Amino acid sequence: MGNRLANKVAVVFGGGQTPGLTVGNGRATSVVLAREGAHVVVVDRDLNSAQETVDMIKAAGGSAQAMQVDQTHETEVQSLLAAVHREHHRLDIVHNNIGASLSVGDATADVLTESSFDASFAVNVKSAWFAAKHALPFMREQGHGSIVSISSVASIQAYPLLGYKTMKAALNAMTENLAAANAKYGIRVNAILPGLMNTPMAIENRVAKGHKREDVVADRDRRIPLKGKQGTGWDVANAALFLHSDEASFITGVTLVVDGGETIAHGH
Ligand SMILES: NC(=O)c1ccc[n+]([C@@H]2O[C@H](COP(=O)([O-])OP(=O)(O)OC[C@H]3O[C@@H](n4cnc5c(N)ncnc54)[C@H](O)[C@@H]3O)[C@@H](O)[C@H]2O)c1
Repeated sequence: MGNRLANKVAVVFGGGQTPGLTVGNGRATSVVLAREGAHVVVVDRDLNSAQETVDMIKAAGGSAQAMQVDQTHETEVQSLLAAVHREHHRLDIVHNNIGASLSVGDATADVLTESSFDASFAVNVKSAWFAAKHALPFMREQGHGSIVSISSVASIQAYPLLGYKTMKAALNAMTENLAAANAKYGIRVNAILPGLMNTPMAIENRVAKGHKREDVVADRDRRIPLKGKQGTGWDVANAALFLHSDEASFITGVTLVVDGGETIAHGH
């Protein structure tokens, strides 16, 4: 156990994960924050999945609790953050991990439906705003706080589907707005833009559609300049740990690319 986040209380939205063979970004981040001494409130709409993350943390000697919330519902987010503050008397870290593309029916502009557009907006943008809206009063009162949202390199690349690209770009803009408006309160707000990661969310969908796992992995690996390998949930988690820690105390409003060199090699 480390102590880079000793005594801090962290809320990780989407801290469970899609079932699969590897670790997801949200679960890995919950585990890494706890390993550095934070008490982690693992929030997910799937309580069993959140509890699995908590079990992993506790097995490693960390401190965590699972809570069930749909982050696209404002009142649920508000009540959860109020309950966490009531119990722990602080709220140091809010981590927004949830996000979706194909699973909410994302498509190109000509075939995307209004309901899928709205669903993409809710899961990729509104959820993070709800968390910020209801965390900021506690963070302002205590005079510090760190918010990190998981965006995607899709926001700066020629990503083919309209919803995900548009919403993740909006999330980057929201990060800058929140950072600028809350710097005077000592609150830092940053985003991470993962590239191709070997996580269940990315791989299992394609395997379920009948593609061979080895082919899916090899095809994605081939596109990464750094050692010809996708990143993992741990790479996103380590970037999140840095941004949430006091080592990043002069960093706010950044959109940190974590992609093994993919965007600089293939252009934006
Ligand atoms: N894996 C990649 O290649 C990749 C690349 C770029 C960005 N990302 C981003 O990473 C994030 C997810 O990564 P992951 O590996 O942790 O995914 P994951 O699917 O394993 O975990 C996401 C968790 O969020 C939960 N969730 C979904 N909607 C929710 C809601 N409305 N309320 C509460 N919980 C909800 C799910 O139940 C799941 O447990 C997303 O923001 C995604 O856009 C992933």
